[in-house]
Amino acid sequence: MRACSEHVIFGSFFLLDTNTKTRTGKQCKDSSIMLLLALVLGVLAGSVHCDSESNARLVVAKNVLNQFVVEGKDLTILYTLYNVGSSPATAVTLTEESFSESAFKVVHGLTSIKWKSIAPGTNVSHSIILRPMKAGVFNFTSAKVTYKPSEEAAVQVAYSTGPGEGVIMSNKDYQRKHSPHLVDWGLFSLMCIPTMLVPLLIWYRSHSKYENFKAKKN
Ligand SMILES: *[C@@H]1O[C@H](CO)[C@@H](O)[C@H](O)[C@H]1NC(C)=O
Ligand SMILES: *[C@@H]1O[C@H](CO)[C@@H](O)[C@H](O)[C@H]1NC(C)=O
Repeated sequence: MRACSEHVIFGSFFLLDTNTKTRTGKQCKDSSIMLLLALVLGVLAGSVHCDSESNARLVVAKNVLNQFVVEGKDLTILYTLYNVGSSPATAVTLTEESFSESAFKVVHGLTSIKWKSIAPGTNVSHSIILRPMKAGVFNFTSAKVTYKPSEEAAVQVAYSTGPGEGVIMSNKDYQRKHSPHLVDWGLFSLMCIPTMLVPLLIWYRSHSKYENFKAKKN
């Protein structure tokens, strides 16, 4: 917007120009031609200026939201597109091709999505839910984004950040590490019972002895 202020200035020159025309005369005609030339040059300079400065620029982040990625359990991927440029990004597409059909099942969301326009300074986000079919190490790579930085510009290709390598835990491993361990705790409490019972018994015996002694004395 700042870059386009020239248009406004030259716009008012143009108004001035039409005013001088009404006065008529050769001198005025000359000056109006000059002004017109200035106007044309100004607009050209202005638009060149605008092109170099008021473009859209998308920064795309791709994040794995799960703390643990587990075979057969839901995995959420979040994409955030942030337009850090100064004009709207149009014809935006995001395509995710890094999750092969054999290794991942799409549970929810689209792996290819379009936005008509993303205004400057704003974020849009998109998420998909997948289910990994195999355990092992997986390289989470970038998603592809295309957009037009301005009305006339050619389509630009960009890539999201890549979360990198991550481990997909097997379901068995996950259960072993994160199940509530009920059996273990049950066994532990059973083993604790004798250590609590023995002092109780000793106390009870001495207590009853003392009571007997008191009774005899009276
Ligand atoms: C957009 O996202 C970026 C990075 O995630 C953040 O710094 C910024 O504040 C967000 N802007 C808005 C308007 O939400
Ligand atoms: C993951 O994939 C990216 C893109 O293909 C590649 O640059 C990177 O080296 C890979 N990482 C590993 C550890 O293989």
